Amino acid sequence: MNSRLMDLRVNGDERGKLVAVEKGVNCPFEVKRAFYIFGTKDKARRGCHANRKSQFLFIALKGSCRVEFSDGNAEESVLLDSPTKALWLDKMIWKEMFDFSEDAVLLVLSSEKYDAGEYIRSREEFLKAKEAKK
Ligand code: TYD
Repeated sequence: MNSRLMDLRVNGDERGKLVAVEKGVNCPFEVKRAFYIFGTKDKARRGCHANRKSQFLFIALKGSCRVEFSDGNAEESVLLDSPTKALWLDKMIWKEMFDFSEDAVLLVLSSEKYDAGEYIRSREEFLKAKEAKK
């Protein structure tokens, strides 16, 4: 699957730690958008969509959450529980985020600006679009 769980390069010194993200540094794409998810209610699921164009990098800045994702064939599940780990997902991957800890702050970086039109919000439509590309 076009995904990767990465250990981020950390700049640490006597003052503490800093992680930088830009294309080629901890991230395979040029970042055009950032958003973060916090205050997520118990049992809530976020995401539940695929994107025709956007790639994403997920980093749990604080707390933890689980990300389940699928390319239509394989399905994977990853626990994000450290600000030094990042999950990269290519475009056209179905993703769902859940099991957020109460203090979780999930940073999401994207290769594209927000365009509601490139979101596929039905799993059936996603599978159909995948089939059509084969
Ligand atoms: P939504 O896509 O449901 O979030 P998630 O994928 O995390 O579950 O988005 C929630 C709301 O925020 C929706 O009204 C669209 C808006 N939104 C933006 O305006 N820009 C963005 O970059 C994102 C991700 C969402």
